[in-house]
Parts: sequence; C-alpha cells; structure tokens
Amino acid sequence: MKEFKMLINALDKVGHINKEIYGNFSEHLGRCIYEGLYVGEDSPIENICGIRKDVIDAMKQIQVPVLRWPGGCFADEYHWMDGIGPKEKRKRMVNTNWGGVVEDNSFGTHEFMKVCELTGCEPYITGNVGSGTVKEMAEWIEYMTFDGVSPMAELRRQNGQDKPWKLKYFAVGNESWGCGGNMSPERYTQEYKKFASFCKNYSGNQLYRVACGPSSSDYNWTEVMMKNLKSPGYWMAEGLALHFYSIPDWNAKGYATEFGEEEYYKLLSCANFTGPLIEAHSKIMDRYDPENHVGLIVDEWGTWFEVEKGTNPGFLYQQNTMRDAMVAAISLNAFNRHCRRVKMANIAQMVNVLQAIILTEGEKLVKTPTYHVFDLFKGHMEGEAVYCFSENVNIREGLDTPMLTSSASVKDGVMTVTIANTSHEEAAAISCDIRGFDAKTVKARILAGEMHAHNTFDAPETVVIHEMDADIKDGVLNATLPACSVAEFVIK
Ligand code: AHR
Repeated sequence: MKEFKMLINALDKVGHINKEIYGNFSEHLGRCIYEGLYVGEDSPIENICGIRKDVIDAMKQIQVPVLRWPGGCFADEYHWMDGIGPKEKRKRMVNTNWGGVVEDNSFGTHEFMKVCELTGCEPYITGNVGSGTVKEMAEWIEYMTFDGVSPMAELRRQNGQDKPWKLKYFAVGNESWGCGGNMSPERYTQEYKKFASFCKNYSGNQLYRVACGPSSSDYNWTEVMMKNLKSPGYWMAEGLALHFYSIPDWNAKGYATEFGEEEYYKLLSCANFTGPLIEAHSKIMDRYDPENHVGLIVDEWGTWFEVEKGTNPGFLYQQNTMRDAMVAAISLNAFNRHCRRVKMANIAQMVNVLQAIILTEGEKLVKTPTYHVFDLFKGHMEGEAVYCFSENVNIREGLDTPMLTSSASVKDGVMTVTIANTSHEEAAAISCDIRGFDAKTVKARILAGEMHAHNTFDAPETVVIHEMDADIKDGVLNATLPACSVAEFVIK
C-alpha cells in the first residue's frame, strides 16, 4: 500500500464545471441508434414512442445533460429531410461510413428530439457541410426552431410538432479535415463562415455554433481557425470541437478484454495526454481569445479497440472493462480541471459503439464500468472546480502514468471529490487536508475490480458501485482506495 497526502483549497476556484462536460454522443453507426436507443413502437421491448424505456431510465439515472447526433462521419452524408414525415415514405440510404448498411431513416429529427425530451437532456445537432448545402442546413434550423408562419415551420406542424424545439448546440460539420470533406483548415474556415452566416436565431432561440476543430494534436488547425473565426468585432463561433481518442497504436488496437499489464499502462498513458492536449490547444486559443469566448468542445473522446470477434467490423462494437473505467476517470478529471476552456465533452458513444456506457442485446441491457464512472462523477455537474493537489508516483517509467488522478468541486455547500487509483496491483491510502470549507461529514462510493473485470449480459452486476468507508476528522479526509478503483466522496 502507498500513502499519499492530498490538499484541497475551496477558496482557490478553478472555474465552473458545465454539466455538458458529462455529455454523450449517439451516431447512426452499428447498433447505437437502431437496437440500442430505438427499437420502434411495435417492438416487444418496452419502449416509449419506439425509444427503449430501459435506456431512458439509465440515462436519467446519470442525468445525461446533452446528446450529440446524428454523427460523426454520418452527419456529413445525412439529409435531414429524409428523416421526417410518415415513416413508410421515408427515403432509404446507404450508410457508407459504417458497414454499408441500409438506413431506413425511421429515426430522424422528431425521434431524436423525443429522446431529449424524455431524458431531460439538451440536443446537440451536427449539420451536413460535406455533402450538404447552406440552404439545407438553414432550413433544418428553421424547421426546428421557428415559431411563426414559414414553409419549414408549417412542414414541422404537418409532421405533428406544433411548437418549435429549443436547440442550443449546433455544429457546422464534423471532422471536416477527414470524413467531413478532407479540407485544409484555410478552406474549412471559409466554408464554416459561409454556413454559419445562415445559422439564424429564430423566435428567441439562441444557437451556440460549434466549428470543426482539430484532431488530437493538430495545433495548426486550431491556430488557423482561431485566427480567422473573428469577423471584425465579433466571433462567428461559440465553440471549437476537439476529437481525441485514447489509442496507443492505430495499427494494433488490441481487444477490449484481452490485454496485459503493458497494454493497460500504455492506454492509461495515452488517456493522460488529455490534460496536456487541452492545455496546448487552450494556449493557442488564449492568444486569440483571452476573454474566453470560444469554448473547447471535446465532442468525441474515449477508447477504440478492435471490434468484438464475430461482429461487423463497421459497427465498432467493443466490451468495456475496468481499464475503460480508468480512462473515463482520467478524462473526466482532466475536463473538470480544465473547465475554464472546456465547455462540453461527449463520450463516443452512448450505446453499443466504442467506449459505450450502455450495451444492449435484444431486451437485455448492461451498464458498463464507464457508465458507473459517470454515476460517480455526476455531483460535479454545475459545480465550481477548486484547487485539488495530490502527491503522486509515476507507475511505469517512460510512460505518463501517475498513480492517482483527482478533481474537486463545490456546489450548494456540498463538496464532491473524485479520485482514481490507477495502479492495477497496489492500494492507495489518502490523507486529504481540506481547507476553506467546513468539512464535517463524508459519504463515499467506490467502483473497483480487477483490470479486466466487466459486465456481461449473463453477469450484468460483476462491476457495480458500492458504499465505502471514509472518515473526516479536523478537516482531514482519510480513505483507502484498492487497486484499480474510482471513488466519489461527498463532503458536507
Ligand atoms: O465515433 C466514431 C467516428 O470517429 C465518428 O463518426 C467520427 O467523427 C470519428 O472519426
């Protein structure tokens, strides 16, 4: 067992943790939308308007604040008009990005907005720049948000939605440097400005426009965007999207459940790049935007392995272990710590794809270890992040593998502290001095397991949250985190 001293100073405020940092992403990819989220009204699986009831309940439990849709790469080949009106008349298309399957468009704008309504989350929609037109994007916004009499508002009413929806988050294209059009940053900036000019604010609705940002450490993309996004006097975007997947080797991704100690730490080292990566992009953004107008929107993040054996390679279906839980804890703690610039983050993806929080098979549903990490961290939403320091050791020489990762926030007189012990073999005893806050009581919960531990459809509760012992005396929190664990401390 290793002993660590920690220090939290509640008087030293880091920034506000937007709830949207705990966002999710749902794409027309594999079994994310169909089977995962949406089964249709005639399904024997319990549903509300075709949306799985068990998924709605699971989303509500962790208070999913925002959901990104319809892609991903799919967004730049999606034509929204194909997904409205009577389902039997909806146009079919080939999903060229993901397995070449036929998309019947039975899940479209109205169905997505219903998911948001039923779960209480905000919609975050990505418009089509790659194969779409300015007119098509402008009309989609009019369709969704205009309250008066107009061709698109009338069409929405004909389709059963009288009142417009509230839509805040809207992205102008996805990965325009890759599947969204293979553009240079200079070219995309021009396209962005043209498209964004026609993203209008109707009927009191105020859009938060997100421009396509860099892939991982493409700092030049950030530089060019930030240099050009300001039209004389005002910013043409409120957010810049960053995509960062934890993948140590693109040519040998390995499997979600089959790995050794070396692969475990290599992946964590990769996830630990989240903090420095955000800092490097923020530095560029700070130069052009010291007032912090443009938020960094990490709208795709997570692990990416080879698909589960025997499944469609285009469907990106993977299991999820305690190793993924560690990546989630490292990433979410990093977002909390950098919440001054990071305004939203969306794990890829919500159901049955990549680092999914939920897996489904027929009527069965499994909450993954990553889901439980979101549960442990939900107290941070809308809190004020505060200074949180911990002594540390680097577990693997040559890799960036601090044993502990942590963050702390305060909301309504309650402090939430989240700590992960990333060692797969050694416990961590922490002694945390809490200053600037009258810490009298603590309740703690923990997710722990052997690094390969995961939930299956036959054993869905192998990895679940338990209550844990912790105590506070004279403002000092004491607790022991077993190897490979994530803990939440709620302090009053
Ligand atoms: O999340 C899977 C894919 O990864 C998304 O469609 C794309 O934006 C990214 O490359």
